[in-house]
Amino acid sequence: METGLRSTQTRETRRRIILFPLPFQGHINPMLQLANILHTQGFKITIIHTEYNAPTHSNYPHFTFNSISDRFHEIEHQLPTIPAPDPGHFLNYLNRSCVDPFTDCLTGLLAESNKGSIACLITDAGFYFTQAVADTLKLPRMVLRTGSLSCTTAYGVLPIFSKSKNSCFNLTTEDLDYEATVPEYPLLKVKDVMKMTINPKSYGDFLTNMLKQMKSSSGIIWNTFKELEQPALKTICRDFPCPSFTIGPLNKYFSSSSSSLIEQDKTILTWLDTQAPKSVIYVSFGSAAQITKSEFQEVAHGLVNIGLPFLWVVRPRVVRGSEWLESLPERFQKEVGDRGHIVKWCPQQDVLAHPATGCFWTHNGWNSTLESICEGVPMVCSPCFTDQPINARYVSDVWKIGVLLEDGFERKGIQMALRRVMMDKEGEEMRERISCLKKKVNLSLKKGGSSHQSLKSLIDYISLL
Ligand code: UDX
Repeated sequence: METGLRSTQTRETRRRIILFPLPFQGHINPMLQLANILHTQGFKITIIHTEYNAPTHSNYPHFTFNSISDRFHEIEHQLPTIPAPDPGHFLNYLNRSCVDPFTDCLTGLLAESNKGSIACLITDAGFYFTQAVADTLKLPRMVLRTGSLSCTTAYGVLPIFSKSKNSCFNLTTEDLDYEATVPEYPLLKVKDVMKMTINPKSYGDFLTNMLKQMKSSSGIIWNTFKELEQPALKTICRDFPCPSFTIGPLNKYFSSSSSSLIEQDKTILTWLDTQAPKSVIYVSFGSAAQITKSEFQEVAHGLVNIGLPFLWVVRPRVVRGSEWLESLPERFQKEVGDRGHIVKWCPQQDVLAHPATGCFWTHNGWNSTLESICEGVPMVCSPCFTDQPINARYVSDVWKIGVLLEDGFERKGIQMALRRVMMDKEGEEMRERISCLKKKVNLSLKKGGSSHQSLKSLIDYISLL
C-alpha cells in the first residue's frame, strides 16, 4: 500500500534504523512490516535477529541482516513438552541469553558507522533488556508493541503480579469462582486471567520488566488504529511518559507472507474460488498455541456437525503429543468429503480477504484479530494464552464482532457459536459492525486519517532523534 508520505531524505543523507524482533511469528510479521514502511520513508534498514526462527533474507534484498546466537536450542525441546503454557519462561530466557551477543553486535554496528548515521534502535517491547544496552551505547531506543493497547492497559493493573492471598493464582481450585469478574479490570473474568499462563511468577516478571522498559523508551509504536482503541490510548498517553504512535494495522501496508516461517499452502485459494460467498468457516489457532488431543477431537466433531464448508489450518504439532493429524476421529474424512480442507499453513490474509470466507474461528492472537477486522470477517473466539483471552473479550463484549466460546472446546458449544455467527441474525449484525470497523481502518490509512497522521509524526520524530 502507498503511504502517500514523501521521504525528505536524499541518497546521501539517508539514516539507518536498526530493528530487533522477538523470534516468534506473531512478532516477526509486524516488525518486518514496520521495517518495510520505514524503508519506503527513506531509511536504511538493518535487522538484528536471533538464529532461532531467522527470517528469510532473500525476501528482503533491500535490508542488511545480522544474526546473533540466542542459545534457544538449549531449551527449545521444552516447548512441546511443557504441559501448559509458560510463555514467561521462554521470554525471560531470551532476555538473558541475548544480552552479550546483542550488545556485541550493536557495538560493532555503531563502531563501523559514521557518527549520527544511525537514527535509532527499534526493538520488540518484549526484548526489555535492550533498554539498558541502548542507554549504555547512547542510542535512542523505540519499541514496537505488537499486542493491543487495551491489553497493555490490562497488564498494567491485573492481579497477575499480586502476591496477595486473594490473587486468583493463589486460591485453591475449590475457592476459585471462574465466572467472577476481575475487580481491577471488570471486562475480564477470573477464567480469562487463569488462561494466560500456568506460571504467574515468570509471566508477571516478564510483563513488569516489559512495561517498565517501555516507559523508559524514547517512544512506542503500536500496531493498532486510534478509532479502535481510543479509551486505552488515552490511558497509555496518561501513564507512559514517552510518545505513542498508532500507525496500524501494519498488515495493510505489507502482507505477512514474506515473513512467514512456515511455507504457505496457496493451492487452497483455488478451492475457495469454487465456494459460495461467505459460506466457508476458516479455522486457525495461530503459530504458538497448542491444544490437547481431546480438544482437537471436539473441534473436528464441531466441524462435522455444523455441516458447512471449512478450511482448517492444523499446524504440525499443534496437538500436544501428535505430529499432525493422527488424532482425527476415524470417520472424519468420510463424513466431510470435499466440504472440508485441512492444510498445515495458509496465506491467512488472502484467505480472510476471499469473498467465500464467512467467519474466522480464531485463537485471537493480535495479528489474526486485526487481519480479521481489516477484512470485515466476524469471529468465533477460542483464546489459548497470553494476551489472547483479553483480545477475545474485546472482540465479543466490547466491539461485538464475534462470539466467545465460554466453555472452551466442546462440540455442542462450538456448533452453537458457529451457527450464531454463520446463520443467525445476530451474526449479520456482527458482520455489519465489523464492516463498519473495516471502513474505519481504510479511512485511518488515507491522507489525513489518524494512522496516516501518526506515521507522519513518527517519521518527523525519528528524523529529529
Ligand atoms: C503470538 C501470541 O500468541 C499472540 O497472542 C500475540 O498477540 C502475538 O504472538 P500468534 O499465535 O503468532 O501470536 O498469532 P497472531 O498474532 O495472530 O499471528 C499469526 C500470524 O501468522 C498472522 O500474521 C497470520 O496471518 C499468520 N498466519 C497464520 C499465516 O500466515 N498462516 C496461517 O496459516 C496462520
